[in-house]
Amino acid sequence: MLRARRRGATTTTTATATATATATNDLRVRIRRGDQSGGEMVCYRAPRRAHQTVLDVVTWIQRNVEPGLSYRFSCRVGMCGSCAMMVNGMPRWTCRTHVKDVLRGARAELELAPLRNLPVIKDLVCDMSDFFGKWQRAEGRFHGAAGRHDPVARIAPHDPRRAAADAGIECINCAVCHAACDVVASHPGYLGPAALNRAWTLMNDARDTAQPQRLRAVSADGGCQNCHSQQGCARYCPLQLAPARSIAGIKKTVARAVLAGRL
Ligand code: FES
Repeated sequence: MLRARRRGATTTTTATATATATATNDLRVRIRRGDQSGGEMVCYRAPRRAHQTVLDVVTWIQRNVEPGLSYRFSCRVGMCGSCAMMVNGMPRWTCRTHVKDVLRGARAELELAPLRNLPVIKDLVCDMSDFFGKWQRAEGRFHGAAGRHDPVARIAPHDPRRAAADAGIECINCAVCHAACDVVASHPGYLGPAALNRAWTLMNDARDTAQPQRLRAVSADGGCQNCHSQQGCARYCPLQLAPARSIAGIKKTVARAVLAGRL
């Protein structure tokens, strides 16, 4: 529903800042506004600019049109993982997503919403407690035994376990894979691709001392066996990681442990 908003836009049907936007070069942006109790899509206009990212557009709207608009960002260079949201129905990191790559047809429209599969706090901001709670449930924390005076462990870069850990280690916790996962959508108790990918990197860390409890955690109810290998996580991961491949590795490790009587 189009609604009049602030800055004297009381009789118009869109919230439009006229300071720098031009009618011929506007971008139409629909943003989900509201909190846990409900929300609605509100339409704004922002200027089109060369090389602008989706985060640039949201920031422009917040600074020029709607100061109450809530969203998250920090680094703006694809490192912190805080800026992810649904962009035209797809989960994306918005600081590295160029507008020209996601526009819908000739209407040049952006539709922005909070990440799927997470509770909304306000507008584009999700509550990440459950997401990171799943990292805890999956034993996604390093447990070491070495002290500060012990020698640094020497692990060859080409060691197969090191290589398996390296393949998933660059995760920035953006929750894009969590939002893309249809299993999480239908089974909220599922640990999800990010938490399991993190667990897999630690299962391949020769220094970690919590492998038995991690194996139990990732094979328990809500664990790796829920993955249907639909690959939504790999399709949308902005860093081209493959959590589904990590989960397949976990499934094999769990199967071997069961056959060996360790689970
Ligand atoms: Fe840090 Fe986008 S703002 S990843």
